[in-house]
Amino acid sequence: MPLRRDYPAAQELIKLTGKGALVTGGAAGIGYAIAYRLAEAGARVLIVDVNGEKAVQASKELKSRGYWTESLACDITREKAVESMTRKAVGILGSIDVLVNNAGIYPRIPLAEMTEKNFDDVISVNLKGTLFCSRAAGQEMMARGRGGCIINIASIEAIHPSGDGMSAYAASKGAVLTLTKSLARELGKHDIRVNVIVPGAIATEGMRSMFSGPSSREARAQLKAFMSRMLLGRMGEADEIGRVALFLASDLASYITGSMVVVDGGYLVT
Ligand SMILES: NC(=O)c1ccc[n+]([C@@H]2O[C@H](COP(=O)([O-])OP(=O)(O)OC[C@H]3O[C@@H](n4cnc5c(N)ncnc54)[C@H](O)[C@@H]3O)[C@@H](O)[C@H]2O)c1
Repeated sequence: MPLRRDYPAAQELIKLTGKGALVTGGAAGIGYAIAYRLAEAGARVLIVDVNGEKAVQASKELKSRGYWTESLACDITREKAVESMTRKAVGILGSIDVLVNNAGIYPRIPLAEMTEKNFDDVISVNLKGTLFCSRAAGQEMMARGRGGCIINIASIEAIHPSGDGMSAYAASKGAVLTLTKSLARELGKHDIRVNVIVPGAIATEGMRSMFSGPSSREARAQLKAFMSRMLLGRMGEADEIGRVALFLASDLASYITGSMVVVDGGYLVT
């Protein structure tokens, strides 16, 4: 069947001009790469990070490339702080059309050593923080009535745990997968799409710090075994997640919601 002639051109579909995007944990690593791609596509981007100084620096770097960015310091584990940050974000961006729940922590903690606080810390950032930000930005999207898009970041640990000491992390990210589907159900009627990216090993500062320190020899052995399962034979780059986030945020993905996009260089196939 021939294509309808009035479909927009691909280069129009990928544009985010006129949209406001909030990226948590956007001061470094994957979050920064996502902020970069969304800003490049024309969105006004707000970088939100617990490390306020780093967020200012990241925003400056993007501005120096001619992109529209601002930054705010916020610890997403603090419910009231997230609400107040979201109100400020609306003032700065005009609207929140895209929320990327990227901020996350992944400490390696063997089960025998895990305290209740260790577990709570991981759940607070990775799961509760995602919920707080989704609720605050989701309410704003619903009130405005122009739809929107939420992108969560999980991990292949949620599907195939592959390293010792990652139980709290894997559990938190497994919950993010389920949360994504529930939010997609609840928000679909408001034309808010909710999807989750499932990265494999991506070379970032946070990832590198996992392989230094006291248990680094064991960690490096695990990394070697892990790398041997990568069909593409290498770690991913943060930008390779940024590109997928851009796709999901744009109208190229206008009929995708409640979905999981695995970006792991083929790890889960092996
Ligand atoms: N790097 C990987 O291999 C990989 C793989 C799968 C999933 N992920 C996920 O991708 C996301 C980003 O990972 P990364 O490797 O870029 O991490 P990173 O440690 O390099 O950067 C994370 C950023 O989040 C910020 N942050 C941490 N806690 C926060 C809080 N409470 N409030 C606000 N900001 C906070 C940090 O300050 C930092 O700027 C995480 O959710 C992580 O679990 C990473």
